[in-house]
Amino acid sequence: MKYNFDKVVNRYNSSSAKWDATEELFGEKDLLPLWVADMDFRVPDEVVKVIQSQAEHGVFGYTTKKDSYYTAVIDWMRNRHNWTVKKEWICHTPGVVSALSLAVQAFSEPNDKIVVQPPIYYPFMKVIENHNRKIVYNPLIFKDDRYEMDFEDLISKIDSSVKMILICNPHNPGGRVWTKSELEQLGKICTEHNILVVSDEIHADLLFKPAKHTPLAAISKEFANNSLICTAPSKTFNLAGLQTSNIIIPNDTLREKFIIETGKYAIGNSNSFGALATEAAYNYGGQWLDQVLDYVEENLHFITSYFENNLPVLKVLPLEATYLAWIDCRKLGLSPEELERLFLSKAKVALNQGYVFGPGGEGFVRMNLACSRSIVERAVKQIEEAVNAVVANKSR
Ligand SMILES: Cc1ncc(COP(=O)(O)O)c(C=O)c1O
Repeated sequence: MKYNFDKVVNRYNSSSAKWDATEELFGEKDLLPLWVADMDFRVPDEVVKVIQSQAEHGVFGYTTKKDSYYTAVIDWMRNRHNWTVKKEWICHTPGVVSALSLAVQAFSEPNDKIVVQPPIYYPFMKVIENHNRKIVYNPLIFKDDRYEMDFEDLISKIDSSVKMILICNPHNPGGRVWTKSELEQLGKICTEHNILVVSDEIHADLLFKPAKHTPLAAISKEFANNSLICTAPSKTFNLAGLQTSNIIIPNDTLREKFIIETGKYAIGNSNSFGALATEAAYNYGGQWLDQVLDYVEENLHFITSYFENNLPVLKVLPLEATYLAWIDCRKLGLSPEELERLFLSKAKVALNQGYVFGPGGEGFVRMNLACSRSIVERAVKQIEEAVNAVVANKSR
């Protein structure tokens, strides 16, 4: 079946954070919402059907997960990522950010240090600060329009109070898919220094050819024993509103500790719609996903060449993964506040501003490309007009 992602789905009045909360959050009317990482696309038909049939049942009591749920997760990890996962390794949280937060709470003490690699998805910093732990920045190196990990800097910052690192694989923002060799270097440093690795792999399925995702725990038994791998169907299949994540923890001791932590907040079970949608998406959604990725990649090519030809002062970075374009606006020479105003008040597009992703993010913006081409076209035209007006004003 061929899906038509050109068709615009009207998401207003659907309790969508992206469409219904933008005006309140950004303080401007008539903004095109291209910020939060969810897609405007309707999910695979099989997912809609399973939700409809559960809704028809009409009784929504406490739930349990069927064996077929676990089989779907295990098969997906094997078939897509060549990773053999055992059923008992799979733990449940409503979201990946809640899993990061639980991991910080379970495996570190107040004032311990936790490493992150900015620019990075801003809740990574929040979960550390919220639990009164200390952030250690190990900034990514930005070289030839591509991010790389800085292992020398990491080693120089390790001391006995560094207990954990939160990595993002593939990385958001910037869309790097960490190679096996990069992950081997990182994993080795962390096992040697007894630093637990929490790997957020929520974007692992959103890859552009020829990128290949390597789950950190699939590399070696040693790494599997020293890591928590946070996975979810939420970005892959646009199911974030159903709050279902699978946190895969091969090490028995770490897993038991994590489950005790989730038990403290009584959040280890998901709602029935989320579990059924996950199972259906993993079993039947592969083709839909491949078509989404082709469509998003065309959106990426479109904005890349549009800016190259019409607005070269903005540079769209190449992406290996994620549907989140990372755009270098530093040549405009604006302060973070000025850049934010330009996009909001003049271009009328709501994007994520780079500075919120921590050191190194300033001067960049993140733009969601998981939407119909006509929306992307409107956005680039509005951005072009707004930027040209600012540039003309400056040169006066
Ligand atoms: C890297 C990363 N982790 C986690 C999340 C959010 O996950 P959840 O909604 O499951 O908490 C996002 C959403 O954009 C993300 O980009």
